Amino acid sequence: MNKKDLYKIDKDISIAKTLDSSFYTDKNIFKTLVTDIFSSTWQYGLHINQIRNKNVYPINFLPETLSESITFTRQNEQINCISNVCTHRGHVICDSPKKGNALKCRYHGRVFNLNGKMKNAIGFEGAKDFPSVNDNLDHINYKNWNNFLFFSLNKTYKNLSVLSDIDKRLSNFPFKKLYFSKQLSNSFEINTHWAMYCENYLEGFHVPFVHKGLAKEIDNQSYNTEILTNSVLQYANKQDSEKDLYAHYYWIFPNLMLNFYNWGLSINVVEPISINKTRVNFFTFPIDGIDFVEDQIKDLIQVELEDQQVVESVCRGVKSKFYSSGRYSPKHEKGVHYFHQLLSKILLKNIR
Ligand code: FES
Ligand SMILES: [Fe+2]
Repeated sequence: MNKKDLYKIDKDISIAKTLDSSFYTDKNIFKTLVTDIFSSTWQYGLHINQIRNKNVYPINFLPETLSESITFTRQNEQINCISNVCTHRGHVICDSPKKGNALKCRYHGRVFNLNGKMKNAIGFEGAKDFPSVNDNLDHINYKNWNNFLFFSLNKTYKNLSVLSDIDKRLSNFPFKKLYFSKQLSNSFEINTHWAMYCENYLEGFHVPFVHKGLAKEIDNQSYNTEILTNSVLQYANKQDSEKDLYAHYYWIFPNLMLNFYNWGLSINVVEPISINKTRVNFFTFPIDGIDFVEDQIKDLIQVELEDQQVVESVCRGVKSKFYSSGRYSPKHEKGVHYFHQLLSKILLKNIR
Protein backbone atom coordinates (compact mmCIF):
# COMPACT_ATOMS: atom_id res chain seq x y z
CA MET A 1 0.00 0.00 0.00
CA ASN A 2 1.18 3.53 -0.78
CA LYS A 3 2.48 5.13 2.42
CA LYS A 4 0.17 8.11 2.00
CA ASP A 5 -2.89 5.84 1.92
CA LEU A 6 -2.05 4.67 5.44
CA TYR A 7 -2.69 8.14 6.77
CA LYS A 8 -5.71 9.22 4.75
CA ILE A 9 -8.74 9.64 6.95
CA ASP A 10 -12.09 9.51 5.19
CA LYS A 11 -14.30 12.50 6.04
CA ASP A 12 -17.23 10.13 6.45
CA ILE A 13 -16.87 8.68 9.92
CA SER A 14 -19.16 5.77 9.08
CA ILE A 15 -16.60 4.34 6.66
CA ALA A 16 -13.36 5.89 7.95
CA LYS A 17 -10.49 3.89 9.39
CA THR A 18 -8.25 5.20 12.16
CA LEU A 19 -4.64 6.23 11.55
CA ASP A 20 -2.30 3.38 10.72
CA SER A 21 -0.33 2.18 13.75
CA SER A 22 2.99 3.16 12.12
CA PHE A 23 2.01 6.74 12.87
CA TYR A 24 2.66 5.96 16.54
CA THR A 25 5.76 3.82 16.13
CA ASP A 26 7.77 5.56 13.41
CA LYS A 27 10.42 7.82 14.99
CA ASN A 28 10.84 9.92 11.85
CA ILE A 29 7.13 10.65 11.63
CA PHE A 30 7.15 11.58 15.30
CA LYS A 31 10.02 14.00 14.83
CA THR A 32 8.69 15.58 11.64
CA LEU A 33 5.22 16.07 13.06
CA VAL A 34 6.35 17.46 16.38
CA THR A 35 8.58 19.95 14.60
CA ASP A 36 5.89 20.96 12.13
CA ILE A 37 2.93 21.10 14.50
CA PHE A 38 4.46 22.45 17.67
CA SER A 39 6.49 25.19 16.07
CA SER A 40 3.57 26.56 14.09
CA THR A 41 0.71 26.48 16.61
CA TRP A 42 -0.16 28.72 19.53
CA GLN A 43 0.89 27.17 22.81
CA TYR A 44 -0.11 27.85 26.39
CA GLY A 45 2.49 29.80 28.36
CA LEU A 46 1.31 31.02 31.75
CA HIS A 47 -1.16 33.14 33.70
CA ILE A 48 -0.35 36.82 33.91
CA ASN A 49 -0.16 36.71 37.72
CA GLN A 50 2.79 34.36 37.50
CA ILE A 51 4.86 37.30 36.26
CA ARG A 52 3.63 39.72 38.88
CA ASN A 53 6.20 39.36 41.68
CA LYS A 54 8.91 37.62 39.73
CA ASN A 55 8.70 39.49 36.44
CA VAL A 56 10.94 37.22 34.33
CA TYR A 57 9.53 33.78 33.60
CA PRO A 58 11.58 31.51 31.32
CA ILE A 59 10.03 28.56 29.51
CA ASN A 60 12.01 25.69 28.04
CA PHE A 61 9.47 24.72 25.43
CA LEU A 62 9.45 20.95 24.73
CA PRO A 63 12.88 20.29 26.29
CA GLU A 64 13.32 16.83 24.73
CA THR A 65 12.28 17.72 21.18
CA LEU A 66 12.20 21.36 20.07
CA SER A 67 14.05 22.63 23.16
CA GLU A 68 13.30 26.28 22.49
CA SER A 69 14.25 28.66 25.30
CA ILE A 70 12.02 31.68 25.54
CA THR A 71 11.02 33.99 28.34
CA PHE A 72 8.11 36.19 29.29
CA THR A 73 9.04 39.47 30.92
CA ARG A 74 6.93 42.14 32.52
CA GLN A 75 7.78 45.73 33.26
CA ASN A 76 4.87 47.64 34.79
CA GLU A 77 2.05 46.68 32.41
CA GLN A 78 4.32 45.97 29.44
CA ILE A 79 4.66 42.26 28.71
CA ASN A 80 7.17 40.84 26.26
CA CYS A 81 7.87 37.36 25.08
CA ILE A 82 11.44 37.10 23.81
CA SER A 83 14.14 34.58 23.01
CA ASN A 84 16.06 33.44 26.08
CA VAL A 85 19.20 32.64 24.10
CA CYS A 86 22.08 35.09 24.28
CA THR A 87 22.92 36.66 20.94
CA HIS A 88 26.66 36.33 21.68
CA ARG A 89 27.45 32.61 21.71
CA GLY A 90 24.08 31.13 22.55
CA HIS A 91 24.11 30.63 26.32
CA VAL A 92 20.63 30.31 27.81
CA ILE A 93 20.23 33.55 29.70
CA CYS A 94 17.77 32.85 32.45
CA ASP A 95 17.18 29.43 34.10
CA SER A 96 14.36 30.11 36.51
CA PRO A 97 11.76 32.79 37.29
CA LYS A 98 13.28 35.88 38.87
CA LYS A 99 12.74 39.52 39.65
CA GLY A 100 14.81 42.12 37.88
CA ASN A 101 14.89 45.01 35.44
CA ALA A 102 17.37 43.50 32.99
CA LEU A 103 18.56 40.11 31.73
CA LYS A 104 22.22 39.35 32.20
CA CYS A 105 23.95 36.45 30.51
CA ARG A 106 26.29 34.84 33.00
CA TYR A 107 28.69 33.50 30.37
CA HIS A 108 30.37 36.80 29.32
CA GLY A 109 28.14 39.34 31.00
CA ARG A 110 26.05 40.69 28.10
CA VAL A 111 23.02 42.60 29.35
CA PHE A 112 19.60 43.00 27.72
CA ASN A 113 16.59 45.14 28.55
CA LEU A 114 13.36 43.35 29.37
CA ASN A 115 12.14 44.12 25.85
CA GLY A 116 15.12 42.22 24.42
CA LYS A 117 17.21 45.18 23.34
CA MET A 118 20.92 44.72 23.99
CA LYS A 119 22.00 47.19 26.61
CA ASN A 120 25.61 46.46 27.26
CA ALA A 121 28.31 44.09 25.98
CA ILE A 122 31.59 44.09 27.89
CA GLY A 123 34.70 43.50 25.77
CA PHE A 124 33.26 44.53 22.44
CA GLU A 125 35.17 47.77 22.09
CA GLY A 126 36.56 47.80 18.55
CA ALA A 127 33.87 45.51 17.13
CA LYS A 128 32.59 47.13 13.91
CA ASP A 129 28.90 47.71 13.17
CA PHE A 130 28.17 46.71 16.71
CA PRO A 131 25.68 46.50 18.21
CA SER A 132 23.22 45.85 15.40
CA VAL A 133 19.62 44.65 15.50
CA ASN A 134 21.00 41.10 15.34
CA ASP A 135 22.40 41.57 18.80
CA ASN A 136 18.94 42.09 20.28
CA LEU A 137 16.82 39.18 21.45
CA ASP A 138 14.11 38.14 18.99
CA HIS A 139 10.49 38.80 19.86
CA ILE A 140 8.12 35.84 20.04
CA ASN A 141 4.44 36.31 19.19
CA TYR A 142 2.18 36.20 22.19
CA LYS A 143 -1.51 36.68 22.90
CA ASN A 144 -3.35 37.53 26.08
CA TRP A 145 -6.74 35.89 26.55
CA ASN A 146 -8.50 36.54 29.86
CA ASN A 147 -5.05 36.92 31.47
CA PHE A 148 -3.74 33.65 30.06
CA LEU A 149 -0.71 34.16 27.86
CA PHE A 150 -0.13 32.05 24.75
CA PHE A 151 2.91 32.11 22.49
CA SER A 152 3.75 30.88 19.03
CA LEU A 153 7.20 30.36 17.54
CA ASN A 154 5.68 30.87 14.11
CA LYS A 155 2.03 31.81 14.07
CA THR A 156 1.08 30.07 10.84
CA TYR A 157 -1.60 27.85 12.37
CA LYS A 158 -4.69 29.59 13.68
CA ASN A 159 -5.59 27.16 16.41
CA LEU A 160 -7.00 29.64 18.93
CA SER A 161 -10.13 30.87 17.17
CA VAL A 162 -12.14 28.73 19.59
CA LEU A 163 -11.35 31.12 22.44
CA SER A 164 -14.12 33.40 21.23
CA ASP A 165 -16.52 30.43 21.44
CA ILE A 166 -15.49 30.02 25.08
CA ASP A 167 -16.07 33.73 25.72
CA LYS A 168 -19.59 33.40 24.33
CA ARG A 169 -20.59 30.11 25.89
CA LEU A 170 -19.00 30.77 29.25
CA SER A 171 -19.68 34.48 29.43
CA ASN A 172 -20.40 34.20 33.17
CA PHE A 173 -17.26 32.28 34.03
CA PRO A 174 -15.37 34.30 36.69
CA PHE A 175 -12.01 34.57 34.90
CA LYS A 176 -11.03 37.55 37.04
CA LYS A 177 -11.35 35.49 40.22
CA LEU A 178 -9.05 32.69 39.10
CA TYR A 179 -5.71 32.27 40.79
CA PHE A 180 -2.91 29.87 39.98
CA SER A 181 -2.38 27.17 42.60
CA LYS A 182 1.07 25.65 42.34
CA GLN A 183 0.25 23.30 45.18
CA LEU A 184 -2.76 21.85 43.35
CA SER A 185 -0.95 21.60 40.02
CA ASN A 186 0.77 18.44 38.83
CA SER A 187 2.96 16.98 36.17
CA PHE A 188 2.98 13.35 35.03
CA GLU A 189 5.24 11.40 32.71
CA ILE A 190 3.34 8.69 30.94
CA ASN A 191 4.58 5.82 28.79
CA THR A 192 2.55 6.67 25.74
CA HIS A 193 2.52 8.65 22.50
CA TRP A 194 1.27 12.25 22.88
CA ALA A 195 -1.48 11.73 20.28
CA MET A 196 -2.84 8.74 22.23
CA TYR A 197 -3.26 10.91 25.27
CA CYS A 198 -5.25 13.41 23.18
CA GLU A 199 -7.36 10.69 21.53
CA ASN A 200 -8.36 9.34 24.92
CA TYR A 201 -9.33 12.83 26.05
CA LEU A 202 -11.42 13.31 22.91
CA GLU A 203 -14.00 10.65 23.68
CA GLY A 204 -16.26 9.93 26.60
CA PHE A 205 -16.92 6.48 25.17
CA HIS A 206 -14.53 4.92 27.70
CA VAL A 207 -15.98 6.68 30.75
CA PRO A 208 -18.37 3.91 31.88
CA PHE A 209 -15.66 1.29 31.35
CA VAL A 210 -12.59 3.01 32.73
CA HIS A 211 -13.89 5.60 35.20
CA LYS A 212 -16.41 3.91 37.49
CA GLY A 213 -16.31 6.81 39.96
CA LEU A 214 -16.73 9.56 37.36
CA ALA A 215 -19.48 7.57 35.63
CA LYS A 216 -21.59 7.94 38.78
CA GLU A 217 -21.18 11.70 38.72
CA ILE A 218 -22.17 12.43 35.13
CA ASP A 219 -25.22 11.55 33.12
CA ASN A 220 -23.73 9.60 30.25
CA GLN A 221 -26.89 9.97 28.16
CA SER A 222 -26.34 13.73 28.08
CA TYR A 223 -22.71 13.41 26.94
CA ASN A 224 -22.20 15.57 23.88
CA THR A 225 -19.33 16.25 21.49
CA GLU A 226 -19.20 19.31 19.26
CA ILE A 227 -16.60 19.79 16.58
CA LEU A 228 -15.37 23.39 16.45
CA THR A 229 -12.56 24.95 14.40
CA ASN A 230 -9.32 23.19 15.38
CA SER A 231 -11.03 22.34 18.60
CA VAL A 232 -13.51 19.92 20.15
CA LEU A 233 -15.94 20.66 22.96
CA GLN A 234 -17.37 17.92 25.14
CA TYR A 235 -19.85 18.36 27.95
CA ALA A 236 -22.25 16.38 30.05
CA ASN A 237 -24.85 17.08 32.70
CA LYS A 238 -24.44 16.10 36.30
CA GLN A 239 -26.15 12.84 37.21
CA ASP A 240 -29.85 13.42 38.03
CA SER A 241 -29.76 16.97 36.74
CA GLU A 242 -31.14 18.11 33.44
CA LYS A 243 -29.62 21.53 33.41
CA ASP A 244 -26.50 21.47 35.55
CA LEU A 245 -23.44 20.88 33.46
CA TYR A 246 -20.70 18.83 35.10
CA ALA A 247 -17.95 20.38 33.01
CA HIS A 248 -17.01 21.94 29.70
CA TYR A 249 -14.03 20.14 28.23
CA TYR A 250 -12.35 22.07 25.43
CA TRP A 251 -9.53 20.46 23.51
CA ILE A 252 -7.54 22.80 21.28
CA PHE A 253 -5.34 21.39 18.55
CA PRO A 254 -2.79 20.02 19.05
CA ASN A 255 -2.13 19.56 22.77
CA LEU A 256 -4.17 21.86 24.97
CA MET A 257 -7.13 21.04 27.18
CA LEU A 258 -9.17 23.64 29.04
CA ASN A 259 -11.49 22.04 31.58
CA PHE A 260 -14.07 24.38 33.08
CA TYR A 261 -15.69 23.28 36.34
CA ASN A 262 -17.86 24.96 38.94
CA TRP A 263 -14.74 25.30 41.13
CA GLY A 264 -12.42 26.76 38.48
CA LEU A 265 -10.30 25.84 35.51
CA SER A 266 -7.83 23.04 34.96
CA ILE A 267 -5.47 23.39 32.02
CA ASN A 268 -3.70 20.32 30.66
CA VAL A 269 -0.74 20.74 28.38
CA VAL A 270 0.48 17.61 26.62
CA GLU A 271 4.19 17.54 25.79
CA PRO A 272 5.67 14.95 23.43
CA ILE A 273 8.93 13.47 24.74
CA SER A 274 9.39 10.45 22.44
CA ILE A 275 7.17 7.94 20.63
CA ASN A 276 6.74 6.16 23.98
CA LYS A 277 6.79 9.03 26.43
CA THR A 278 4.63 12.04 27.10
CA ARG A 279 4.54 14.62 29.84
CA VAL A 280 1.22 16.09 30.88
CA ASN A 281 1.24 19.26 32.92
CA PHE A 282 -1.86 20.10 34.92
CA PHE A 283 -2.19 23.74 35.86
CA THR A 284 -4.93 24.36 38.42
CA PHE A 285 -6.76 27.68 38.68
CA PRO A 286 -9.39 27.64 41.44
CA ILE A 287 -11.99 30.39 41.75
CA ASP A 288 -11.10 32.55 44.72
CA GLY A 289 -13.30 31.78 47.71
CA ILE A 290 -14.26 28.20 46.79
CA ASP A 291 -13.08 25.77 49.42
CA PHE A 292 -13.82 22.30 48.05
CA VAL A 293 -11.13 22.38 45.38
CA GLU A 294 -8.76 19.90 47.03
CA ASP A 295 -11.33 17.08 46.98
CA GLN A 296 -12.09 17.83 43.34
CA ILE A 297 -8.40 17.60 42.46
CA LYS A 298 -8.14 14.26 44.28
CA ASP A 299 -10.97 12.94 42.08
CA LEU A 300 -9.32 14.34 38.96
CA ILE A 301 -6.04 12.61 39.80
CA GLN A 302 -7.91 9.34 40.24
CA VAL A 303 -9.46 9.78 36.77
CA GLU A 304 -6.05 10.74 35.39
CA LEU A 305 -4.42 7.57 36.72
CA GLU A 306 -7.20 5.48 35.20
CA ASP A 307 -6.62 7.23 31.85
CA GLN A 308 -2.88 6.69 32.09
CA GLN A 309 -3.31 2.93 32.43
CA VAL A 310 -5.36 2.69 29.25
CA VAL A 311 -3.19 4.95 27.13
CA GLU A 312 -0.06 3.09 28.23
CA SER A 313 -1.73 -0.17 27.25
CA VAL A 314 -2.66 1.24 23.83
CA CYS A 315 0.94 2.36 23.31
CA ARG A 316 2.09 -1.23 23.88
CA GLY A 317 -0.76 -2.68 21.84
CA VAL A 318 -0.22 -0.76 18.62
CA LYS A 319 3.25 -2.29 18.31
CA SER A 320 1.63 -5.66 17.63
CA LYS A 321 2.03 -7.00 14.11
CA PHE A 322 -1.60 -8.09 14.35
CA TYR A 323 -2.89 -4.52 14.72
CA SER A 324 -2.75 -1.84 12.07
CA SER A 325 -5.85 0.33 12.44
CA GLY A 326 -9.45 0.27 13.64
CA ARG A 327 -12.82 1.94 13.02
CA TYR A 328 -14.54 4.87 14.71
CA SER A 329 -17.77 4.71 16.65
CA PRO A 330 -19.87 7.30 14.75
CA LYS A 331 -21.79 8.05 17.92
CA HIS A 332 -18.92 8.41 20.36
CA GLU A 333 -15.70 9.10 18.49
CA LYS A 334 -16.35 12.21 16.43
CA GLY A 335 -13.64 14.06 18.35
CA VAL A 336 -10.98 11.42 17.67
CA HIS A 337 -12.01 11.33 14.01
CA TYR A 338 -11.63 15.12 13.76
CA PHE A 339 -8.22 15.03 15.46
CA HIS A 340 -7.05 12.36 13.03
CA GLN A 341 -8.23 14.43 10.08
CA LEU A 342 -6.17 17.38 11.31
CA LEU A 343 -3.13 15.15 11.84
CA SER A 344 -3.65 13.49 8.49
CA LYS A 345 -3.56 16.81 6.64
CA ILE A 346 -0.18 17.60 8.15
CA LEU A 347 1.11 14.04 7.72
CA LEU A 348 0.23 13.95 4.03
CA LYS A 349 1.99 17.25 3.49
CA ASN A 350 5.15 15.91 5.09
CA ILE A 351 5.30 12.39 3.69
CA ARG A 352 6.64 11.57 0.30
S1 FES B 1 27.08 33.82 25.45
FE1 FES B 1 26.13 35.37 26.53
S2 FES B 1 27.65 36.82 26.89
FE2 FES B 1 28.63 35.28 25.81
FE1 LIG C 1 -10.77 9.29 30.66
